[in-house]
Amino acid sequence: MSRLIVVSNRLPLGDAPSGGLVVALQDALKSSGGVWVGFSGEVTPDAEPALRSHPGAAFQRLSFDLTPDEHETYYLGYSNSILWPVCHGRPSLTRILPEYLDGYDRVNARIARMLARELRPDDRIWVQDYHLFPLAAHLRALGVTARIGHFLHISFPGPGDCAALPNPGQLFDWLSHYDLIGFQAERDLGAFAESARQLAGADPADPRHFDLCGRRVRAGVFPIGIDADSFMAEAACAPDSDRMRSLTGAKMMIGVDRLDYSKGIPQRFRAYQLLLDKIPDLHEKISFLQIAPPTRGEVEAYQTIREETEHLAGRINGQFATLNWTPIRFIHRPFPRPVLAGLYRQARIGLVTPLADGMNLVAKEYVAAQDPQDPGVLILSRFAGAAETMQQALVINPHDPTEMAAAMAEAMRMSKSERRDQHAALLRDVVDHDVAWWSDSYLKTLG
Ligand code: G6P
Repeated sequence: MSRLIVVSNRLPLGDAPSGGLVVALQDALKSSGGVWVGFSGEVTPDAEPALRSHPGAAFQRLSFDLTPDEHETYYLGYSNSILWPVCHGRPSLTRILPEYLDGYDRVNARIARMLARELRPDDRIWVQDYHLFPLAAHLRALGVTARIGHFLHISFPGPGDCAALPNPGQLFDWLSHYDLIGFQAERDLGAFAESARQLAGADPADPRHFDLCGRRVRAGVFPIGIDADSFMAEAACAPDSDRMRSLTGAKMMIGVDRLDYSKGIPQRFRAYQLLLDKIPDLHEKISFLQIAPPTRGEVEAYQTIREETEHLAGRINGQFATLNWTPIRFIHRPFPRPVLAGLYRQARIGLVTPLADGMNLVAKEYVAAQDPQDPGVLILSRFAGAAETMQQALVINPHDPTEMAAAMAEAMRMSKSERRDQHAALLRDVVDHDVAWWSDSYLKTLG
C-alpha cells in the first residue's frame, strides 16, 4: 500500500487530535504508515537542515523550523501579505517586496530537499494550502515522480485579482506540476479556469482537465466538512458552567472568527447597530457575543482591523447598553472546542458573514451543535464557500447592512417549526459531507 504524505504549513503538534483536518487524515495516515510534514512553530536563527521527528501520534510527524528571515518573507510576507489579500479579493491590502517572493520560493525549495530524502517511489503526497504552491515544482526538479496533489483551503482569485500578484504567470507554472488541484467550491474552479486561460494561456481540455504550461493537470471541487459526529456529541454534553448568562433573558447571537479583515466583522457590527437603532423592541432581548482570537498581529492590516472592531464595539455598547444589558461582548481570545460547541448550541443565531472565505467551517459547526428539537438559525454570507451547499440558511450580502439587519430580525422572529425545517435540511448536508467524506473523495480522485 502506498504511504500518504501530508504537507501543510502548520504541523498538528500536541497529544490529542484536535482539528477536523487531523481527524480526517488520521485514518489514512495511520493505515498507510503515513507521514505529516509541517512547520514546528519555532522561529530560530539555526533552523536545522533536516526534518525533526515528533513521536507520540498515531502517525509519523516530521517538522522544520524557520529562521526569522524565512518567517518574515515566506509566512508573514508572500503568504499572508500577498497571497492572502489577493485570494480574498483585497489587492489594495497587499505589501509587495521582492524579498517576499524570493523567501517564499526558497523555503519551499528547502522543504522539498528535506522531504525528498524521506520519500519512496510509490508514496502519494498531498500538499495543503497556499503556503506551499511551489512545492511540487521543486520536488519534480529533484526527480520525484510520485503522485502529488494540492488542496487549496482558501478561495482562488479571478483574473482581475490574480493580476495584482508580482508573478501571476509563475503561480500557474507552480500549479502545473501537480497531478490534481482541489478547490473548495465551483466558484473557485471557475476562477482558476478563467485566470489560467487569461494569464497563462491555459486550454481546458474539458471542465476538469487543463493543458497548463506544457503539462496536463486535473482539477476538481471537494468541499471540506467537519468531524460532524464528534462535534454533535460535544455540543450535546457541554457543561452548564460554560454557558453565557443574561440578566434580561436575552437570546444570544454568536460570531466566531479569527480577527481577519476577510471575515466582515465591522460590517456585522454595523448591521447590528442598525438593528438596534431601527427596532428598539429588541433591546435587552438580543445579545451579541463575538469571539475573535487575534491572528498574524505583525501584519499591519491585522492591526488596523483590530482597532476598527474595538472602536465599533465600544460605540455600540456606549450607545445602547443599559444597567442590566450589554448589547455586544467582544472577546479577543481563543476558546477550547468543547466550550465553543456549547456556546453554539445555546445561541439563537449563528452569524457567519465573511466578505470572502474558502469554505467557513464555523457555519457547519454551528449547525452540527444545535438541538434538533429547538435549533438556532444560521445567517450566512453568500461569499462563503459554504453558501454553495447551505442554501437553506438565511443567505445574505454582507456589504448590505439593511439586508443583514433584516435577517437578524427574521431569525429572532422565526417559529420553532420553521427553524426545525431549516435546520434538518442543513444538518443532512453537514453529516453526509463530513471531513472523512472530503478526504476520501479527494484521495480517490488523486488515485
Ligand atoms: C486559514 C488557512 C490555514 C491557516 C489558518 C490559520 O484557515 O487556510 O492554512 O492555518 O487560516 O492561519 P495561521 O496563519 O494562523 O496559520
